[in-house]
Amino acid sequence: MKRTHHCNEMRPEHSGQIVTLCGWVHSKRDLGGVLFIDIRDREGRTQTVFDPSDLSSELFEQATHLHSESVVRVTGKVRVRPDGTENSKIPTGQVEVMTTEMEILNPADVLPFPVDDPEIAAKVNEELRLQYRYLDLRRPELMKNIRLRSRLATATRVFMEEQGFLEVETPTLFKSTPEGAREFLVPSRVHPGQFYALPQSPQQFKQILMVAGVEKYFQLARCYRDEDLRADRQPEFTQIDIEASFIDREDIYALIEGLLARMWKLGRDIEIPLPFKRLSYEEAINRYGTDKPDTRFGMEIVDFTEEFRESQFKVFSGAVGRGGVVKAFNAKSMACVTQGQMETMTEYAQSFGAKGLAYIKVEGGEWKSPIVKFFSEAEKAALIEKLAIEEGDLILFAADQWLTACEILGRIRLYVSDVLQKQGKLVLDPNQFEFLWVVEFPLLSFDKELNRWYSSHHPFTSPVVEDIPFLIDDPKRVRGQHYDIVVNGVELGGGSIRIHQPELQKTVFKDVLQLDDETIQSRFGYMLEAFRYGAPPHGGIALGFDRLIALLCGTSSIRDVIAFPKTAKGTDLMTSSPSAAEPRQLKDLHIQLRSAKKE
Ligand code: AMO
Ligand code: AMP
Repeated sequence: MKRTHHCNEMRPEHSGQIVTLCGWVHSKRDLGGVLFIDIRDREGRTQTVFDPSDLSSELFEQATHLHSESVVRVTGKVRVRPDGTENSKIPTGQVEVMTTEMEILNPADVLPFPVDDPEIAAKVNEELRLQYRYLDLRRPELMKNIRLRSRLATATRVFMEEQGFLEVETPTLFKSTPEGAREFLVPSRVHPGQFYALPQSPQQFKQILMVAGVEKYFQLARCYRDEDLRADRQPEFTQIDIEASFIDREDIYALIEGLLARMWKLGRDIEIPLPFKRLSYEEAINRYGTDKPDTRFGMEIVDFTEEFRESQFKVFSGAVGRGGVVKAFNAKSMACVTQGQMETMTEYAQSFGAKGLAYIKVEGGEWKSPIVKFFSEAEKAALIEKLAIEEGDLILFAADQWLTACEILGRIRLYVSDVLQKQGKLVLDPNQFEFLWVVEFPLLSFDKELNRWYSSHHPFTSPVVEDIPFLIDDPKRVRGQHYDIVVNGVELGGGSIRIHQPELQKTVFKDVLQLDDETIQSRFGYMLEAFRYGAPPHGGIALGFDRLIALLCGTSSIRDVIAFPKTAKGTDLMTSSPSAAEPRQLKDLHIQLRSAKKE
């Protein structure tokens, strides 16, 4: 069976050698009775020539009838291609193999879609590609991603080992944790009516490992979250999960900056400048309307609350009167939006809770807007100055409570940047990566519906020490020791310094998050107890490994960097899962279905 070379190896210096290649029939052309078959393997492809004058008629006949993607073994002599027939697009394009022997290892049926033409393949609908994922993965574009993923997983392990970290595996069958997303439950056969949960992350285990004295832990960890899926979210995904003892926030920043610099060098040959910028949560929201800002382009959000406090335009002054704010940003060179597009944008803003989307178009030296007639000269002057308004600009406003107003404009800012990129008016360099740490998050956020506080990150995050006294009486002002790493608008990872004092952790569970004693005991009793037996101060972080690889591969969908991803509905189209269970299985698991699955 042995091959002598792989299909990306042959160069003019191999000329005259007899070689054997194994691989797939990538493409086949018949040029005046001579067949040219490109053989492809994981590494690349090589042109082979089937000349009827050199071959038995039986072999030639077999080759003529080969379907694309059949698996073959070909032996022949390498020669430099005749002048004018070289293919400069592939590394082996100067040579070809003159076939003398061929063995069909496995003929292929006609494929559901072609894999040899990247343009056609890219147009095939994604569902079909996911159903035949093994064919999709044959495309060099995808294989390249899988390969980079493998290299960077190894690089991560090498880097973490160099830094003194131990890789420790933690269980997949776990118990319910309160990290936010819905969990996948696994029924126990042995314990009727009881369930494991798949971990949303190894958070509690890695903290327990600190109590165990591991000091520096990492893991390429699988995590499971039953949440609504998007291009950057899968129900199962991988984290580079990290925890360390006797450290502070600066140690984590330095470690992660070192790791990411290594990965960007290896994956893209890019030297990323260190250290990364830092932005407080408040500043991120104020300037970009999101805690994961894309800072590659301007169009920053500006505050006009004071300017419009007494405005004749009641929509603005009214919002300020109710304790809200007025925010605006300059959508550069967007004045050309049509009325229809403006309506689409307004509806989009409304879907995020906007009451409207006031605007000014600056066109033909005029401000075209239904609202400027209410503006005073001073208000107009403030807009011109703070938004650097020029001909062709579109100014967009939100008047609302602080977070709502900022977030609405944050979403619209991204929408506008998409439109401008599609129109070619905003060009982003694919090699530009703007990393930043977002820090100083509030420890707690308020849930209006449930009328109680919940953890902005997770309940194990330590408050900033000097804010601890306000935990009960003024939770809003307590900052958390939480940090997120963001690049180009993508939340790559997040973590925190943890609470290691059992009493403080109990206060957070009980008095701040208002969990009852029974819940605390059943969910976290073991952890609170562990902390009483000598828990070192510790902290950590987790990076989304799929997102990291997607960024390096230049794709916006993490499905492109996962060998077997699920669809947006959480299904695996290749194996048709999830699927119904046998009645016997259900019986073993003590499960009775409420209603039979609708046909
Ligand atoms: P967090 O929930 O922020 O933190 O997750 C860390 C990172 O994991 C990635 N990520 C995802 N990637 C793909 N699909 C998903 N559904 C998905 N959800 C999250 C993101 C995210 O930034 N235990 C804490 C970390 C810690 O405190 O140390 C945690 O899991 O890139
Ligand atoms: P109205 O007075 O409701 O007709 O609104 C006048 C303009 O202000 C319209 O373009 C609305 O979309 C916009 N608008 C209304 N409420 C708000 C708000 N809270 N923030 C920003 N724009 C608003």
